[in-house]
Amino acid sequence: MGIRFIKIASLYFVGGVILGIVMGMTDSFRYTSTHAHINLLGWVSMALFGLIYHVFPRSAIGKLATAHFWLHNIGLPLMLLGMIAFAAGNEGLGVPFMSAGGTIVVLATVIFAINMFVNLNKAQKEAR
Ligand code: HEM
Ligand code: HEM
Repeated sequence: MGIRFIKIASLYFVGGVILGIVMGMTDSFRYTSTHAHINLLGWVSMALFGLIYHVFPRSAIGKLATAHFWLHNIGLPLMLLGMIAFAAGNEGLGVPFMSAGGTIVVLATVIFAINMFVNLNKAQKEAR
């Protein structure tokens, strides 16, 4: 689980910096929010998830980790597609995709937090 998250994070990082450099070179900032969220929810958050699941393997197995992985990886692309559509002027497509994708990412985040409280406590008890 940890390794899968880190591999996917590295791909978002490539996409995020390419978009950043294109924005800088073309002096066009329409997609700044998309760039910010590719980098922050795609690269930074997913790399952190990967490291956390690697350091605490107890939290990387089970339904909570699986649900977190899939919800984040389904919600984020939908949210980013929505941000791109919105920034390109298509509000009709952008708003529902951003809302649905964003809600799924929030749900993934809540599940991640529950997972941390449930399984990090267990890992702590086992270490005693
Ligand atoms: C080669 C790498 C990168 C380039 C060339 C780049 C370029 C840019 C540019 C041109 C902007 C728009 C600035 C503006 O609106 O005035 C921007 C905004 C932003 N970038 Fe990057 N970026 C890079 C990497 C990253 C990374 C790695 C992160 C996060 C981990 C990041 C996070 C952000 C954020 C959060 C904003 C929005 C800032 C705001 O709202 O004022 N960028 N970036
Ligand atoms: C479900 C999760 C999230 C949703 C739905 C969301 C949504 C949004 C929206 C709608 C904006 C305003 C965009 C605009 O003005 O064009 C925004 C801006 C921003 N968000 Fe998020 N966000 C989320 C998570 C995060 C996280 C986890 C971070 C940082 C780790 C973050 C960092 C930022 C930053 C830096 C900006 C300003 C970027 C800009 O200049 O457009 N967001 N976010």
